[in-house]
Amino acid sequence: MSQATRDAILQQVRQTLEARLALSDQIPQLAEDVCRILERTVPWYDWVGIYLVDGEELVLAAWSGPAATEHVRIPIGQGICGAAAREGQTIIVPDVRQDPRYLQCFLSTRSEIVVPIRRGEDVIGEIDIDSDQLAAFDEKDRALLEWLASELAERLPHHRASAA
Ligand code: SME
Repeated sequence: MSQATRDAILQQVRQTLEARLALSDQIPQLAEDVCRILERTVPWYDWVGIYLVDGEELVLAAWSGPAATEHVRIPIGQGICGAAAREGQTIIVPDVRQDPRYLQCFLSTRSEIVVPIRRGEDVIGEIDIDSDQLAAFDEKDRALLEWLASELAERLPHHRASAA
């Protein structure tokens, strides 16, 4: 696929996401719609999930893809997901078979991107995408998903802030 085609697809998915974000903010429906839009619009996004932080764990809140994952709760610090949550930084893994942190969900997965959803200094969740293509994710995917993470951060419940 050419770079121009990839750019056009990411531009299209951003417009679709903007339209959806302008509608209701009700979680989990919003999270489910966002996962479905990403997975169905971008051919190299084969499985899309949104995890939310619950204490010391990530809990799967919504997903879209051909099959369910067994990893519905991931301790912070484990897997690529747990590493991104602990570091508060996006992680792109071009070849999951070469990364010892990787927790396998699907035999077909070859690369992964995990983007933390941050509110201030806190990680409150993350977007996790698996691809069946090697090195599927680049800086444009990162830019799109980091924009989406900041939009979602504004809409997720604020319960953690008042728990202290
Ligand atoms: N591969 C992830 C686990 C979650 S599944 O990809 C849905 C990881 O290494 O943390």
